[in-house]
Amino acid sequence: MPVLRTVAQNEDNRMELAGRNEAGSRAAFQPPRSAVEYVAIKDSVSGWFLDIDATLFLGVDAMQRAVGARGDLLEIGVFYGKTSILLGYLARPGEAVVCCDVFEDTQALSDEGRGEHEMYHRTLRRDEFERNYLRFHATLPTTIAAPSSTLDADAWAGRFRLIHIDGGHEYSVASEDIRLARRMLAPGGIVIIDDWCQPHCAAVGLAVWEEYLRGDLVPLALTDTKLYAKWGPAGVSVEAFDHWIAGQPRVASPQAFRLGAHTVRRYVMKPTVAQPAPPPAAPRPTALRRLWRAVRRRT
Ligand SMILES: C[S@@+](CC[C@H](N)C(=O)[O-])C[C@H]1O[C@@H](n2cnc3c(N)ncnc32)[C@H](O)[C@@H]1O
Repeated sequence: MPVLRTVAQNEDNRMELAGRNEAGSRAAFQPPRSAVEYVAIKDSVSGWFLDIDATLFLGVDAMQRAVGARGDLLEIGVFYGKTSILLGYLARPGEAVVCCDVFEDTQALSDEGRGEHEMYHRTLRRDEFERNYLRFHATLPTTIAAPSSTLDADAWAGRFRLIHIDGGHEYSVASEDIRLARRMLAPGGIVIIDDWCQPHCAAVGLAVWEEYLRGDLVPLALTDTKLYAKWGPAGVSVEAFDHWIAGQPRVASPQAFRLGAHTVRRYVMKPTVAQPAPPPAAPRPTALRRLWRAVRRRT
């Protein structure tokens, strides 16, 4: 949640989407046919998903393909579906997308959780998430409309190749989501943890570093909003990550950090360089000036 959008801004976005669905005068919406095409128009969906992270999601998927990692894809905290719609494009035949969110039912949240929901997600409704999702995909994902603490980690142990944690930000929720992810990731699976270092989500940072210090969380990459990691040695390596990024002309890696046993790189989008404007054309000589030049040439 890098940019704090107000409820009013989210309302504007929703009106825009509704307009596209309903206004007969506008051209019929043609859903993107691929993940890359969706990333290009992802900002038509309300939510939080930076270009660098969308790029790294594509990279994670490509790298998992390369090492043969398979499994379902889970998002905890879907809001209006900005990221989960991308997961829908990344799922391969036989892989399911599972989405977990409390949506409008905040009864089971703590006071801190309800306060956060009121501040950022007050307008959220499950049916709008579903409407958004169906604009892009023919069928809905498996949806758990309940707090993430109700996910059955025993039943789903080792099921997912990718888990995106982007739900509640209080300590008890963030640390429980990390524990659940550890249990539910398949070998070679990747966890992506949102808001690992945001001042307004300090408890997520505590939960992340606590897990790191326990010993076997391997960080693969950092962006200003998300941490990409795995547990144990299997699957995509840090070197594979760096190698994939090296082939991305729009991604820069300004820094590497030594974090005890592991070194991890921070990735950002390169600033788009504005093309310099062409110099103004020289003024065309007027007829008088041409005559004057001709006279001077003769004298
Ligand atoms: C920052 S938003 C998610 C943004 C989303 N991933 C996107 O693509 O824009 C956080 C979401 O987490 C949900 N949430 C908050 N606490 C939760 C909990 N304990 N379990 C499940 N979802 C929760 C909120 O309803 C909200 O939709």
